[in-house]
Amino acid sequence: MTQHMTGFRMYDEFAHLWTQISAPEGYADEAEILRDLLFELLDKEPGRDRPAVLEMGVGGGNNLCHMTEYVDAVAADISHAMLSVSQELNPEAEHVVGDMRSMRLDRKFDAVIVHDAISYMLTEGDLLSTFETARAHLEPGGVFIAGPDWLAGVTEIPNISSKLGEPGMLSYTEFVHDPDPADAEIELIFTFFIPQPGGSVKVEEDRHRHGLFPIETWLKLLRRAGFEPNSRRYPSEASSGAGYHFTGIAI
Ligand SMILES: C[S@@+](CC[C@H](N)C(=O)[O-])C[C@H]1O[C@@H](n2cnc3c(N)ncnc32)[C@H](O)[C@@H]1O
Repeated sequence: MTQHMTGFRMYDEFAHLWTQISAPEGYADEAEILRDLLFELLDKEPGRDRPAVLEMGVGGGNNLCHMTEYVDAVAADISHAMLSVSQELNPEAEHVVGDMRSMRLDRKFDAVIVHDAISYMLTEGDLLSTFETARAHLEPGGVFIAGPDWLAGVTEIPNISSKLGEPGMLSYTEFVHDPDPADAEIELIFTFFIPQPGGSVKVEEDRHRHGLFPIETWLKLLRRAGFEPNSRRYPSEASSGAGYHFTGIAI
């Protein structure tokens, strides 16, 4: 029987298809920007220093796989199935199950990263809890970096995108809309086209909720969690994300 650990089909029953949904190459440009930002904020040198980094919401590890050459990584996610995918790609990293809002590993890191998975934080309370989790895993001077998919006032919504798979591989569309502009939630509706043996195609739907917050909210909550906050713009061609990284230096 399929175990639904996260409530999202993509991260449970379809996790084995993750590599067809999203590939490491798609993360390479932004990962390079993230890596440079990380070493700059830590005042360390890639190749000489090897900082200890916790990535929460690591997913399939597509971002992390561009980092493991330079850092000692612990990878966390709420989904067992996604951790298995990341473990395959990043065997050198330690993998642990954890909810970014509440996990406590009882150890400190040089840096904590939450890439696009932070988009699953739906309320200011969720976002603050995640920042507090990051702070709990850092000494003063430690670095936090987040890379949300969406930002209120920056990202155009509604939008639609699609990926056509190679023959025999999964294809999908992703429609993003804001059902209620009065709250901070947006809805992502995925349609997966999954080739079956014999040539037929199964069509499956999966609906996700993400948070949509303005830049000021990110900075306000980072400060409240005990960080000196900042934001850094990066070229939008580098990823499908919002084009901003939020950083916090632990106070
Ligand atoms: C889009 S995927 C991340 C992909 C990842 N950036 C990569 O490089 O492969 C989003 C991930 O966030 C995880 N997630 C969602 N809510 C979470 C939470 N509260 N705590 C930890 N992980 C969470 C999901 O299980 C999923 O694996």
